Amino acid sequence: MRTTQMLMFAITLVVLLLSTAIPTCTAKHATPAPTPTPAPSPPPNYVNLTDLLTVAGPFHKFLNLLEQTQVLDAFQNQANNTQQGITIFVPKDQAFNSLKNPSLSNISLSQLKSLILYHALPHYYSLADFKNLSQSNPVGTFAGGKFMLNFTDVFGSVHVSSGWTNTKITSSVRSTDPVAVYQVDQVLIPEAIFGNPPPPSPPPPAPAPAPALPSSSSSPPEADKGVGSAHAADSPSGSSGKGGSSASTHRHLRRRPRRSSTWVF
Ligand SMILES: *[C@@H]1O[C@H](CO)[C@@H](O)[C@H](O)[C@H]1NC(C)=O
Ligand SMILES: *[C@@H]1O[C@H](CO)[C@@H](O)[C@H](O)[C@H]1NC(C)=O
Ligand SMILES: *[C@@H]1O[C@H](CO)[C@@H](O)[C@H](O)[C@H]1NC(C)=O
Ligand SMILES: *[C@@H]1O[C@H](CO)[C@@H](O)[C@H](O)[C@H]1NC(C)=O
Ligand SMILES: *[C@@H]1O[C@H](CO)[C@@H](O)[C@H](O)[C@H]1NC(C)=O
Repeated sequence: MRTTQMLMFAITLVVLLLSTAIPTCTAKHATPAPTPTPAPSPPPNYVNLTDLLTVAGPFHKFLNLLEQTQVLDAFQNQANNTQQGITIFVPKDQAFNSLKNPSLSNISLSQLKSLILYHALPHYYSLADFKNLSQSNPVGTFAGGKFMLNFTDVFGSVHVSSGWTNTKITSSVRSTDPVAVYQVDQVLIPEAIFGNPPPPSPPPPAPAPAPALPSSSSSPPEADKGVGSAHAADSPSGSSGKGGSSASTHRHLRRRPRRSSTWVF
């Protein structure tokens, strides 16, 4: 009895050993000798500016102007092929929509090209670098010549001034050497094209408060319970007392339809 048990045990052991040993053996044979296939090495710091400006923003208007003026190639070349790198200030679409004085509508193509070049510095600057850079005002831009910008660092917030434009960096789209792309609130308007800006006019009087809705005689939303409840659903604070005024504020803040842009391509 004992010997057969031991024999059985031994057989199982051998079978187990074989079953584990064989696959590894065949596996070893199956793996081919590693053939070194050189992977196509992408350029280390390549940044596709079109891609970058397409996903962020919306910066469609600036991107269109970059393409129309072919300044995109100059910027992309600076990003690709230089040690210095590049810093680009990109106005959002809304900045072009709200630009009225001066208007870009009658400048020449070469002036437009300079204006777009004016939105970049031929050097990479991190946000922290602007404090030091502000010691060198006025700072030359990609447009060269008299196309200069002033920078100030106000408690870590970077302000950009062209004379016509006083704006600031409102967000960093990308800031990794060699490419920095910062969002600004306004289009940078150069004195080199438009001359000296007019002297600052006194601030316009505050807009008169919207006249209160006639509350006495005719306010059907208040009177009619059915419409009133519809309003309550529309406004977050649907209480009866302030329902009317909060609804009017809500209406007042609602965006007006977009105006068409100055530049039509
Ligand atoms: C950059 O990205 C754009 C948009 O995705 C693409 O059309 C273009 O071919 C890219 N350029 C290069 C050089 O990869
Ligand atoms: C920038 O580099 C990319 C990737 O190597 C290349 O496809 C593109 O043509 C280059 N563009 C310029 C303007 O150098
Ligand atoms: C654009 O036109 C206005 C008059 O409509 C003129 O005063 C201004 O000088 C023009 N600007 C340029 C850059 O030609
Ligand atoms: C600060 O700016 C000066 C030029 O004005 C430059 O020479 C210096 O290297 C800069 N320092 C730093 C820390 O970036
Ligand atoms: C820019 O800075 C320089 C030097 O501080 C100053 O002379 C000039 O008036 C400034 N220009 C603007 C538009 O702020």
